Amino acid sequence: MNNFSGFYSAIKNTELEKLFLPVKELVEYKYSSENHGDFEKWLETLKLLPALTPSEIDLDLGSILIGRESDGNPSQLLLLAELFMEFCPWRKGPFKLFGINIDTEWRSDWKWDRLKNHLAPLENRIVLDVGCGNGYHCLRILGAGAKRVVGIDPTLLYVTQFLALNRYIKTDSVHVLPLALEDLPENRPFFDTVFSMGVLYHRRDPLDHLRSLSGYLRQGGELVLETLIIEGEGLTVLAPDGRYAKMRNVFQIPTIKKLESWLKSTNFVDIKIVDISITTSQEQRCTEWMKFESLENFLDPNDNSKTIEGWPAPRRAILVAKKG
Ligand SMILES: C[S@@+](CC[C@H](N)C(=O)[O-])C[C@H]1O[C@@H](n2cnc3c(N)ncnc32)[C@H](O)[C@@H]1O
Repeated sequence: MNNFSGFYSAIKNTELEKLFLPVKELVEYKYSSENHGDFEKWLETLKLLPALTPSEIDLDLGSILIGRESDGNPSQLLLLAELFMEFCPWRKGPFKLFGINIDTEWRSDWKWDRLKNHLAPLENRIVLDVGCGNGYHCLRILGAGAKRVVGIDPTLLYVTQFLALNRYIKTDSVHVLPLALEDLPENRPFFDTVFSMGVLYHRRDPLDHLRSLSGYLRQGGELVLETLIIEGEGLTVLAPDGRYAKMRNVFQIPTIKKLESWLKSTNFVDIKIVDISITTSQEQRCTEWMKFESLENFLDPNDNSKTIEGWPAPRRAILVAKKG
């Protein structure tokens, strides 16, 4: 039994098989020691996780609740905290695991709070979350009533974090697969809602990314898009040469108008801007669970409206749109 056999059992005889069976071997290959030096260590850590049964799970809280402190004894809880620390850096969250506060780099709950009231109701929907990290938002989507959520993310540590959390949540309705969007066969319109948050600016060809997302949505299905934007009324794009906020792989940051024009040209309709926010050091910061540099180190110390390289500081937009 491998880590993804539960996923394949869960989608048996559904149309999702047409999307995910062709990549079954790839999923197994990607999640292997061939692809990360720490992989064997993570597997060992997963095996050591203490057997605890949560008396309560609440996926509809900002800090996702998995169990109470009283569900374990002090030595089990100490071991649990030490083992979860092995999966650092924890970027997306927070989680409250048997009383342990996993205070992640990002307050991902803030992003959720900005968008949750603007979505078509998630009840009973089949949802794809592209670039889902450790699945924090996938779990919130399930908490909001979705029927099934598939997250994909090529970063193996984040997939491992999800597997560790799901040891205790034990949901069969959310799965996080070790895949990039480009790994999936195209044009399989099986999802009611597709999320792409924090991914578009990492793609060299944003139109290609949007077209590809559209190919996974059923007619009339909803795209939830979150990405970096720049201020301005025109149709301009910032294409940083070199790094942006110390990130090497940021390719295109459009104005909101340009972003809307990209959505229109890829056949999205009913485009709504639901939020524009400047990212603050309260929302993205280093914590006990993410000890590396964070936003504060990526901004000009004398002028927080600029990145350390002199570009406009991170400003993010959330849009929802329907497949036309
Ligand atoms: C900035 S994080 C955003 C995480 C989460 N969606 C959120 O909004 O909090 C971007 C994530 O996208 C993943 N990613 C990068 N390129 C990707 C690709 N081509 N396909 C799918 N995911 C990708 C990264 O591994 C990373 O976890």
